[in-house]
Order: sequence, then C-alpha cells, then structure tokens
Amino acid sequence: MSNVIAVVNPKGGSGKTTTTLNVAAGLLRYSEITSSVLVIDMDPHGCSTSTLLGKVEGNAPSRSIFDVLRRAITPHDGITNTVFAENIDIIPSSPHLESMAKTQIFDRLKKVTEALASSYGWILIDTPPNLGVLTQNSLVAAGYVLVPSPINGLSVGTMRLLKDTLDAVQNSSNDLLQMLGILVTMKDARTKLNEKLVKEVTDIFGEDAIFKTHITTNTKLEEAPAEFQSIYSYDSSCVGATVYRDFLKKELLNRLGELEKKRTELIEARY
Ligand SMILES: Nc1ncnc2c1ncn2[C@@H]1O[C@H](COP(=O)(O)OP(=O)(O)O)[C@@H](O)[C@H]1O
Ligand SMILES: [Mg+2]
Repeated sequence: MSNVIAVVNPKGGSGKTTTTLNVAAGLLRYSEITSSVLVIDMDPHGCSTSTLLGKVEGNAPSRSIFDVLRRAITPHDGITNTVFAENIDIIPSSPHLESMAKTQIFDRLKKVTEALASSYGWILIDTPPNLGVLTQNSLVAAGYVLVPSPINGLSVGTMRLLKDTLDAVQNSSNDLLQMLGILVTMKDARTKLNEKLVKEVTDIFGEDAIFKTHITTNTKLEEAPAEFQSIYSYDSSCVGATVYRDFLKKELLNRLGELEKKRTELIEARY
C-alpha cells in the first residue's frame, strides 16, 4: 500500500498549498481509517510550514526537511507538531532547500517517506512551482499525484509537460506512481469548463482526469491560513469547506481506493 500523495503543479498560485492543507485536515476529519497525517513541505518558500506552525514571518525552523535530506538528522527527528486543530504533523521546509534543487539527487525523499509511511495514515507532500529536483524527489517518493489547477491556468502545454515528467519518473524510478486527477480550483461558480480544453486534457491524462467537484473561489479559503486554521475549523459551513469536504467524501477517497487496487494488481503482475 502507498499512502503518499504529492500535490503538484509547476505553476505558482494554483492552489497546491491550500489543497495540501485542507485535504490533510479533511482526511483526518472525514476518512474513517485515518488518525494521523504528515505534511512534508518541499517548497523552499514554506507557505505550508508557516501556516501549520503558526508563524507570520518566522526564522527558518530549527529542524527541517533540508536537514533530513542531507542526513544531518533522522526522518523522525525532522517531525514537528503543528498548531492546527486537526492532528497534523509536519516536516518543515527551509530556504536552504534551494541548494538541493541544484543537485542531481532524485531519490532522497523516497527514503524518508519509506521510513515514515507506517507511522502515518497519509503523507502529503507540498511542492514548489516547478518540475525541478525537489518536485521530482516528491514524485519518486509518492504513490499518487494530485494536480490542483485554476481554470484559467489550466493549459494543455503545462499538462503535457507534467505528463512527460510523470512518464519519465515512472520509467526511471517509480513505476507504481499513479495520477489521482486534476482538481479545478478558484473557479467562479458561473464559469463553465471549456469543452475543447477538457477534451485535450482528457486526451493526455485519460477519461476521468478532471474531478467533477470544483473548488470555487471563496475568500474564506484565503483567510483561514492567516488564522492558522484549516477551512473546516475556520468556518465549517462556508462554501470553501463544503467543496473541499465534498471533494474528499464523494471523489478523493473513492479514487484512492480504486488506485490502491490497481497498485496491488501492478505489484502482483511483477511476479
Ligand atoms: N479556492 C480559492 N478561493 C480563494 N482563494 C484561494 C483559493 N485557493 C487558493 N487561494 C489563494 O490563492 C493564493 C495561491 O494559492 P496557493 O494554495 O498558495 O497556491 P500554490 O501553493 O500553488 O502557489 C493564496 O493566496 C490562496 O489563499
Ligand atoms: Mg504553495
């Protein structure tokens, strides 16, 4: 079984961090089997880190994923408690991660998630806005990829680039990596998906590539991180909480179940 989800989109401002935090908190609240979630923040800018640790503008955390990746501390020693109402742990980011982005080391994070997988129900990896070494480490470590994308930022070019990267990772180092799907974010309730674009994206990623639940634009989703809260504890009945909850309960958990079966088949077919 894999319980590692990488949240990836090479474009900045696409809803990766918002989705990472609210899916992490949502899994704890709404999935029956999950009692513990770990977030690993692989983005040197550390937005997940500052929200989960309750820092407006802090110094770099004393222990970070950078220290774990360079093997100065063990994976377990990189873990820190968070201020969220939900019982989420984090391995914080550090600005020093930038220096790792210049290396050609792609499999370090995998060793970390392997060491921690049995301690957590789910591990979510928040990634930087590019497809460089830090994102590739995340893809090598993950079982599943979730791609948040605003409707106006959903471009065929970006999706092709992402598909090529996923293929390359599958072929070289992680043949069990599976695409969970594209989650439309920041959608105006009245905007319709462009049918031509939907067809082009499904040609690249397959029939059900785009989740049916769309995350609408909701200012509460912007306010919640400033209060160091998930959307469910910030305002459990707002539109943002409703759509993320629907996404989890109606689609994400089912899709994860289906892909887990496929993963088992792939593993059995090897023998
Ligand atoms: N559904 C939404 N409605 C309103 N604002 C959102 C929504 N999703 C994300 N945002 C805001 O958009 C900005 C970028 O989102 P973020 O999750 O940080 O993207 P990324 O991690 O991909 O850079 C943030 O200020 C965030 O609060
Ligand atoms: Mg981010």
